[in-house]
Amino acid sequence: MGIQIANEITCQPIRPTKSVPSLIDDVAAGLFSAQKQLPPKYFYDDRGSELFDRICDEPEYYPTRTEDALLKQSADHIIATVEPSRIIEFGSGMSRKIRHLFDACSKLECYPTYVPFDVCDDVMIKSGEQLAETYSWLNVAPLSGDYTAGLGNVPISAGRNLLMFLGGTIGNFPETEAVAFLSELRDLMGIDDQLLIGADRVKQPDVLHAAYNDVAGVTAKFNLNLLDVLNRELGATFDRSNFEHYAFYDPRKNQIEMHLVCMHDQEVWFEKLQRSLEFKEGEAMRTEISRKFTRETLEQMLLSAGFEVVSHYEASAHPFSLVLARPA
Ligand code: AVJ
Repeated sequence: MGIQIANEITCQPIRPTKSVPSLIDDVAAGLFSAQKQLPPKYFYDDRGSELFDRICDEPEYYPTRTEDALLKQSADHIIATVEPSRIIEFGSGMSRKIRHLFDACSKLECYPTYVPFDVCDDVMIKSGEQLAETYSWLNVAPLSGDYTAGLGNVPISAGRNLLMFLGGTIGNFPETEAVAFLSELRDLMGIDDQLLIGADRVKQPDVLHAAYNDVAGVTAKFNLNLLDVLNRELGATFDRSNFEHYAFYDPRKNQIEMHLVCMHDQEVWFEKLQRSLEFKEGEAMRTEISRKFTRETLEQMLLSAGFEVVSHYEASAHPFSLVLARPA
């Protein structure tokens, strides 16, 4: 019997190749403007990540469950098609859904290295260790940093890389930014590499509406947590109880919009900016868009970014898409 030496998982920091705006920049440009808005990435501090996790367990929030089930169904086909030597996952979070692919890998005797890419080293190491307990063959080599800024520094090795972008996060980008991000991914890829992307689909407006307005109020807490982030990070003075969560589906834009609506006039001081900002009674700040696609708009977006669709896997109960695509 040999001695087992635990394989230490270490994260490789990925330096940005381009400057991304900081929270201060985004607040200065987005909040101090006529149409108050912020990018959704600031939701995810420790508390926000925990709340997002709880959203995924709410009965109305179908996307996580739906994508998970679809990935489970499609896993064998995906692994047999790509036969990856590396799986690189952007925004890997707790690396839960990926297990379906590893189950398929074990079954099909395909043993890729897993490369999660996210901001939180601790989560990637802990999740990686748990994966390695289930999959003895698995080598985990995390990349740490902001994947939107550091794409140009992602070490892509020879062999077949499977890039993954799950969760429908592509829907949080406006169309031009989404195409730009996908084009950057495309430019990283060799001819044998493939991309697996998850995207939510248009469906009955009331189903969409309910998913962002769970009765337990977890999405409302998640949205309002942004004010705590601003208060903490920028020394702002938002009164949380003066704001309401408001999310609705706009069927003409095919997107959910999440807002925080001010109930009474409030002047908010931002210590870090040495500026104050007025919120009027009834005024809204937009905190997120979540775009919903048709089969056509999704494939068209991939096409515009220089991809060719290899397989389009669809869930039917609640429409959701996983698309396997390769550089055209
Ligand atoms: C899974 C991160 C894309 O847009 O549905 C959930 C985030 N916002 N509830 C989504 C979210 C409100 C979410 N993403």
